Amino acid sequence: MTQTSHILCIGAGYVGGPTMAMIAAKCPHIRVTVVDINEARIAAWNSDDLPIYEPGLDTVVKIARGRNLFFSTDTEAGIRDADIIFVSVNTPTKTFGQGAGRAADLQYWEKTARQILAHSTRNKIVVEKSTLPVRTAQAMERILNSNTAGLRFDVVSNPEFLAEGTAIKDLEDPDRILIGGHETPDGRAARKAIADIYATWVPRERIIESNLWSAELSKLTANAFLAQRISSINSISALCEATEADVDEVAYAIGTDSRIGARFLKASVGFGGSCFKKDILNLVYICRSYGLNEVADYWESVVAINDWQQARFVQTMLANMFNTVAGKRIALFGFAFKADTGDTRESAAIAVARQLIAERAHVVITDPKALDNARHDLGDQAALVEFEPDPYRAAHGAHAIAVMTEWSLYRSLDYARVLASMEQPAFVFDGRNVLDHRRLFEIGFNVFPVGKSPLRHV
Ligand SMILES: NC(=O)c1ccc[n+]([C@@H]2O[C@H](COP(=O)([O-])OP(=O)(O)OC[C@H]3O[C@@H](n4cnc5c(N)ncnc54)[C@H](O)[C@@H]3O)[C@@H](O)[C@H]2O)c1
Repeated sequence: MTQTSHILCIGAGYVGGPTMAMIAAKCPHIRVTVVDINEARIAAWNSDDLPIYEPGLDTVVKIARGRNLFFSTDTEAGIRDADIIFVSVNTPTKTFGQGAGRAADLQYWEKTARQILAHSTRNKIVVEKSTLPVRTAQAMERILNSNTAGLRFDVVSNPEFLAEGTAIKDLEDPDRILIGGHETPDGRAARKAIADIYATWVPRERIIESNLWSAELSKLTANAFLAQRISSINSISALCEATEADVDEVAYAIGTDSRIGARFLKASVGFGGSCFKKDILNLVYICRSYGLNEVADYWESVVAINDWQQARFVQTMLANMFNTVAGKRIALFGFAFKADTGDTRESAAIAVARQLIAERAHVVITDPKALDNARHDLGDQAALVEFEPDPYRAAHGAHAIAVMTEWSLYRSLDYARVLASMEQPAFVFDGRNVLDHRRLFEIGFNVFPVGKSPLRHV
């Protein structure tokens, strides 16, 4: 059993909240406090209406909250009391100055380092949970070890590999836990302290220890490889549409090759989420800063294909709806970047909605969990859009439905009823390839999947 008694996590977001809830639920002997500067978010974590939607999260939070899991805005006290501090703040793409649009914005990160320095009165282990550029730990160490009180801070990298929508399953039964630290006696001891926490419920053989830089770089690389698979199959989806091949058949045929594997080969309107784009762009920026321009170009093309796939989806809509959507009601089914989350950051639906608004379409957005976020994402343009929780009402009077998120509920709608309420000819553009295309065609829809021949009456 570990000697750790107090853990603090700075940042109560999609990563900090679920990760700490799982640690607290599995380790009743450890007191876990999660702090955030966002008071509303902390209030929500302390309520029955958690700030993020994640299947199974409520149960895990209920097990530990008030027992050994606490949510608070008192960062200062949290730092003082902690043996181990996980830092799980946001590291978005920089929007200003040098590296704008590429580099990671490390201002929130650096602020936490300075807070830790200001309020610590004894030695601590500081754990990088956020996704960071390789060698960030060096900067963290420099800041922390500038203290004059003789305190020692050991920095460890423990990147998070959970995926939203399956976060609880991923945390409970992870493929691996990665812990990077210095190859020194202190570094190894710090790494072991973190490994001991996870070993409470994760088999030891799945806990990988590495050097600090490998751990930092592995997280960026994992996201780049995952996104690359999606862009690869999406690039082939365009070729399938041009040649009457079927992208699902191609994906199945190549995915059964054990060297390739079946996952992340689903063609779609494009990947979204807060991580893939930002992490690849960050990798691109790092490569350029080391003069590795060919490497940077290679990874940048993964993002370029994704942007192109989103634009291509809208082009398909326009071309098949008689080259105009002006004044036409178009229902977007789903806005979250994927099913089982309310998160809309970088969702393909944002780009599609914006392009349709620019074409003067009357856009109606429906989603079971993401309407508030959708409203926020569209900013000024939200006033031009209708938000409707009920998909039947959203489709009522529409010329077209465009499926943006693979929510299972969209598979089980009564599409005869939907069709009867729509303008004719009625179109379905299935940006996730989740609907029964043949059946929709038979009842009268014109159906446009991704990477397959369209089924049309007009
Ligand atoms: N979302 C994912 O699926 C995922 C998965 C793996 C890794 N990550 C990485 O984890 C990190 C966090 O991602 P997220 O999705 O949880 O972000 P998030 O924006 O949901 O949460 C970050 C939280 O940190 C808080 N914060 C910022 N500065 C703070 C400070 N000084 N003190 C206290 N709180 C502060 C913010 O208010 C916010 O609530 C990022 O680096 C991300 O790349 C995310």
